[in-house]
Amino acid sequence: MSERKKVTLPVLFDKMARGIPLTMITCYDYPMAHLVEQAGIDIVLVGDSLGMTMLGYESTLPVTMSDMLRHAQAVRRGAPNGWLIGDMPYMSYQPSDELAVLNAGRFMAEAACDGIKLEGGQEVVSRVKAIVAAGIPVMGHLGLTPQSVSSLGGFRLQGKSGRQAKKIVDDATALEEAGAMSILLELVPDQVCGLITERAKIPIISLGSGPHAHGQLLIFHDMFGLYPRFTPKMARKFGDAGKVIGDGLKQYVAEVTSRAFPEPERYFGMKEEEFAELRRLVDG
Ligand code: KIV
Repeated sequence: MSERKKVTLPVLFDKMARGIPLTMITCYDYPMAHLVEQAGIDIVLVGDSLGMTMLGYESTLPVTMSDMLRHAQAVRRGAPNGWLIGDMPYMSYQPSDELAVLNAGRFMAEAACDGIKLEGGQEVVSRVKAIVAAGIPVMGHLGLTPQSVSSLGGFRLQGKSGRQAKKIVDDATALEEAGAMSILLELVPDQVCGLITERAKIPIISLGSGPHAHGQLLIFHDMFGLYPRFTPKMARKFGDAGKVIGDGLKQYVAEVTSRAFPEPERYFGMKEEEFAELRRLVDG
């Protein structure tokens, strides 16, 4: 098993400065985290998308801090060296700066995260400032922000008009000025992402927002055919783990049914005299 050096903020900024694209992925459990670590991915996001991908909810809104912490702890055990981000779930930061700092601190203290992510622009500036003042790195999240999916009118491209895009550009500036260490742009036009990236002094990460950002993010389950409801256009399937597992399960059912499984090399016997003794003991 190969060991790699811990990814730190200076490592991320150094890569950005040298024009080396940053890699980011969502991750929710120990076995996935182990693979992510082995692949050398820079930034690992324990996204509240786990509500949909792992827990089967229709949206991210029902996800709690307990859900997030349990998964973040497992991911940290599997990916000790990635830059680990805990995603602040719905209502863990919206009510007040104090609650935001307390919950952000839980990701750091209880799951050994390196930072947190929260959704929103100018309206969350005071939350970002409070969390950063507590010494916790913050990644912002603009464009399609799933916790506001109802106000946004669904999972759709954001910032299509010049006026809507200007708001996203202003939000990005506000987050950077508030001390965010990075911003994720989800599903905005590539030109908007390019413009923000050009102006930013912090890493901009694209999820479905084109190639001009400092780095790219994909959702693990979309990449590997593991989300049964749909695969968004922005996600490329890099492998079909869903098919591999599905085929394996069908074969398992067939082989148990036909008694082809288990084969003799999959189980253990005991010495005949010991089994005879067992029979004597059982039969009395
Ligand atoms: O929860 C998540 O995985 C996210 C991504 C959609 C960016 O926030």
